[in-house]
Amino acid sequence: MKKLINFTWRQLSKYVFPFIYKLNGNRVRLGKNVILFGFPIIKAETDSNIIIGNNVVLCSKSENTALGVSKPVILRAMKPEAVISIDERSGISGATICAMEHISIGKECLLGSDVMIFDNDFHSLNPAGRRFSQKDINVKPVVIENNVFIGARAIVMKGVKIGENSVIGAGSVVVSNIPSNVIAAGNPCKIIKSLGHYIEK
Ligand SMILES: CC(C)(COP(=O)(O)OP(=O)(O)OC[C@H]1O[C@@H](n2cnc3c(N)ncnc32)[C@H](O)[C@@H]1OP(=O)(O)O)[C@@H](O)C(=O)NCCC(=O)NCCS
Repeated sequence: MKKLINFTWRQLSKYVFPFIYKLNGNRVRLGKNVILFGFPIIKAETDSNIIIGNNVVLCSKSENTALGVSKPVILRAMKPEAVISIDERSGISGATICAMEHISIGKECLLGSDVMIFDNDFHSLNPAGRRFSQKDINVKPVVIENNVFIGARAIVMKGVKIGENSVIGAGSVVVSNIPSNVIAAGNPCKIIKSLGHYIEK
């Protein structure tokens, strides 16, 4: 039965979902063999783009990932010109990714259960009229390079770049750049180890 359900999701991913997302004004581009377990929430404002590369897996169902997910994958390109790009063979479980400008995820990245990534503060820091204003919101692009592994429930904030191969500990809050080939963890997220011994010279 489980096999049958997984088979069905794969077929839906291949043949049905691309049509559904095309209805989103072609602002959502799905690569080949994208696998969707469960229904992600994908919203792209006019003139924004969400680009999902070949063989990406988006898991929105607890049955299909060891830790489970507390909600579906959410991808929101929140403003005209905003871009979210997820490069090929990356795997994402229940993450929320919200861009007002640009969030890019490299190839073969792993985003653990319920990770959050945003490139903006959603609201102005200026108290005057903050409740209803869409002005003065701080926005800085986020770059996650190839083969980065982000542990469950970590939060990656605006302006952060995480270098190739690096690992971010579960529950970390990443507020500044993390170089390539390190393990970093905590709040605020800091380097705790090098991955040097794994990297071929
Ligand atoms: C970050 C991580 C990879 C480190 O593992 P490790 O190399 O075995 O590290 P250690 O357990 O030896 O810990 C090294 C130090 O980092 C600290 N640390 C480890 N993970 C941490 C975390 N998530 N947050 C804060 N500190 C952390 C430890 O307390 C320890 O501190 P100390 O040296 O002061 O005692 C691991 O703890 C982790 O968070 N893995 C992610 C798992 C996950 O979420 N998978 C996703 C599944 S969907």
